[in-house]
Amino acid sequence: MDRGYVYVNKTNYLHNIEVLKQLSDKELCLVVKANGYGHGIEWTVKTAMEAGIKWFAVAAISEAKKVRAQSDELRVLLLTEPSLGEIDNIEKYNIDLTVYNDFFIDGLAKSGKAFNTHIKIDTGMHRVGCEPEDFINLYEKITSSKTINLAGICTHFPLADEEIEPTEESIELFKQTIKDVDTDSLLLHADNSGSSFYNFDPTFNLSRVGLAVYGCNITPAEVVQDLKPTMAIKTRISNIHHRKKGEAVSYGKALTLERDTTVGVSPVGYGDGYPWSTFPDGKVIVNNAYCNLIGRVTMDQILYDITDVEANINDEVVLLGNSENNELKITVFDIAKWNKTIEWEILTNINERLERVEIE
Ligand SMILES: Cc1ncc(COP(=O)(O)O)c(C=O)c1O
Repeated sequence: MDRGYVYVNKTNYLHNIEVLKQLSDKELCLVVKANGYGHGIEWTVKTAMEAGIKWFAVAAISEAKKVRAQSDELRVLLLTEPSLGEIDNIEKYNIDLTVYNDFFIDGLAKSGKAFNTHIKIDTGMHRVGCEPEDFINLYEKITSSKTINLAGICTHFPLADEEIEPTEESIELFKQTIKDVDTDSLLLHADNSGSSFYNFDPTFNLSRVGLAVYGCNITPAEVVQDLKPTMAIKTRISNIHHRKKGEAVSYGKALTLERDTTVGVSPVGYGDGYPWSTFPDGKVIVNNAYCNLIGRVTMDQILYDITDVEANINDEVVLLGNSENNELKITVFDIAKWNKTIEWEILTNINERLERVEIE
């Protein structure tokens, strides 16, 4: 090991896909944007294809290209309207488009090329999506076009991982908005991870799931969620030194040591996506014991207290995952809590500097 590895767990990922498939009859569209939530987009797509997944959602044309490179058979859904300057790429890589603006749809029509589109209706998120009262106009514009195909209608929930009731209100608004159009051959999709565990409304036939497939339990529904973590991050002790009570380590000398302390150092930092704010609340695991961070996370290194642990240079350090004896663990939720942020941000920030290693 040079600096550390991001282990991506194939067995757990396939297990989570199976759990999500069992929830309902809806087809799964896996959300693999932001480098497959940090796991490596090629890996997430290739592995999910083994489980028969055909739909993948992305946020960027560059991501769509990477999905398309895996197979011509897949459907790749872009979740927001790109600029019209991307029309050639959209056609070339056969990308399904999420659409909601007249301007964009007119641009598609003018190009004379063929596209698959999904109209997005804003049912409460208030980010992108057409107003419910504008839906019929967009629907008619697309269905009367000779080149643009309407493949689906969708929406997105702002509170699905927090509260069930507002999500149900969005579902009602969605159903009201589309009630006068023929949806027989269309894909109707709204779910993300949170709502997949409680929205069983038969209106929908596709769900777009991200975080849950990476093993994070985030639904407010009181259900058994047998999801397993798909990522672990491990590094090694690269340096050990001894400091006296009253000294302080790392930039800003932010914590005065309350005892004589043995300091462990590992070569992972915020330059790898391990968040700067993990100090002061965060921990790592060394030789089956939790060790507190005792100085600010730096770009390439972290520092922690190993006074109470027998440890040597090159011993393994767990930043995310289970201790060797499986008695201790650090979850994505823990790191998010220490950083006062959300699980999505922790996973998507883990960048390419640490090599990914697949474990079965
Ligand atoms: C439009 C859209 N659909 C689905 C998802 C998946 O959400 P989650 O990771 O909560 O499953 C996202 C995630 O950001 C999204 O933006």
